[in-house]
Amino acid sequence: MSLANRSLVTVDDLSNEEVEAVFSLADEMSEAMDKQSNVCQGKVMATLFAEPSTRTRLSFEAAMHRLGGSVISVAEAKTSSLAKGESLADMARVVGSYADIIVIRHPWEGAAKVVADYAGVPVINGGDGGHQHPTQTLCDLYTIKKERQTIKGLKIALWGDLKYGRTIHSLIFALAKFGANILFCPSPGLEVPEHVLEKLVTEYGGEVEKYEAQDQKAKDRLFPLDAIYTTPDSPHQLAMMPDVNLEVELKTGIDALYVTRPQKERFAATEEGQELKGKFPVVDKKLLKGKPFRKTLVMHPLPRVDELAYELDADPRSMYFKQAARGVPVRMALVALLLGTKEVPISREGDSLVQQVDYPIYKRDFGVRCPNPRCVSIQESEIRYLKPEFKIVNRKPLTLRCIYCEHGFEPKYIASSDWHEGRLVNKKYHSVDSHWARQIKPENLIVFNSESEAEARGFKPSRYARARS
Ligand code: NCD
Repeated sequence: MSLANRSLVTVDDLSNEEVEAVFSLADEMSEAMDKQSNVCQGKVMATLFAEPSTRTRLSFEAAMHRLGGSVISVAEAKTSSLAKGESLADMARVVGSYADIIVIRHPWEGAAKVVADYAGVPVINGGDGGHQHPTQTLCDLYTIKKERQTIKGLKIALWGDLKYGRTIHSLIFALAKFGANILFCPSPGLEVPEHVLEKLVTEYGGEVEKYEAQDQKAKDRLFPLDAIYTTPDSPHQLAMMPDVNLEVELKTGIDALYVTRPQKERFAATEEGQELKGKFPVVDKKLLKGKPFRKTLVMHPLPRVDELAYELDADPRSMYFKQAARGVPVRMALVALLLGTKEVPISREGDSLVQQVDYPIYKRDFGVRCPNPRCVSIQESEIRYLKPEFKIVNRKPLTLRCIYCEHGFEPKYIASSDWHEGRLVNKKYHSVDSHWARQIKPENLIVFNSESEAEARGFKPSRYARARS
């Protein structure tokens, strides 16, 4: 197996062995950072950043310079043709003809996939809206491995904005892939999205137990614990334990506490001011005095705002500046492998826990569109050429997952292309919870989100068209 000519859009794009291969090359490179300058000589990297960035862009650029390559860069969307309404596909084709590898950061979820689909050269996702940030996850996993030698079986707590944090979403899937247990400690109202939990359970195995019912006092004594993910082969099956045992279990220690800032730039209008109301819990010396944190690695992708106290900077448990520093060798290794200027042996056999599920695909020129307002597939400049495309991840309730942003949703109305073929009188739509929903073959399925959408295509309501509210 080779990583050459591949792209990294989500953490699913790398097997565990490939991640390990990146890490071993990063180890090798970090021991001789100034001896790598012929690895990518003559190669060009384009960094296209349509959102603010310090660490990600500069560490990629530093990585390419250290490898002896050169960098062309767009550091602000308003200075590129994207501001003139150019599509990502056109930009990708053009930049792909100037550079050998592209790193893109963009506020639209799924933007990196579109660029990867059209560029013709390897593309690295440097963060696409609230979706994923796979190279930050590589730096995070690398740090955990360096400090703890393994990831399997560890207990990692995720803290802060678990709803909009893309570093969180990538890290959740990667931790599950490597067999770590996860404690979810969100700020109120910023819990992990359901579609992330759904994918975690169906594709990565294990169990998620929510702690809504937990006694509030016990909850406050621990920390804002909201849910726990336990791996399929967890010896303890934490989720099965009553609260008291959970407390005992936590005393055996949290291996890492991963803190994130409120991702205000993605807040809905109703969520603004959330962190100002004192609801955003702070990680400080007082919290870390608790028994569960005795040996905890304190991690943060940075930048921090108020959620992580400066008084912790000198604490030996604090890892965040190391995480950022390790970004350079990790990205050097990744770039060299994707460009094929370095090869490392990677076995095909893996111990990854991910179950590759081949979901049926739903793709039509009309009808339902992704309901996520930040999805790349519904943006004005992209709608001209991107066809909506979804994985049918569940039949009851019928659930579609957008292939771009991975948001899941349950459409309201269905019809079949088979039954109405040639017979206009049969061109009927039904409520998704009527008995037809499961009988329509995936290839014949037509999905609508509203009655007006269905009627605009000439479909009439059947007697099963009334949606249950
Ligand atoms: C993160 C990001 O951009 O998602 N920053 C980073 O790349 N290290 C985290 C954040 O902005 O909060």
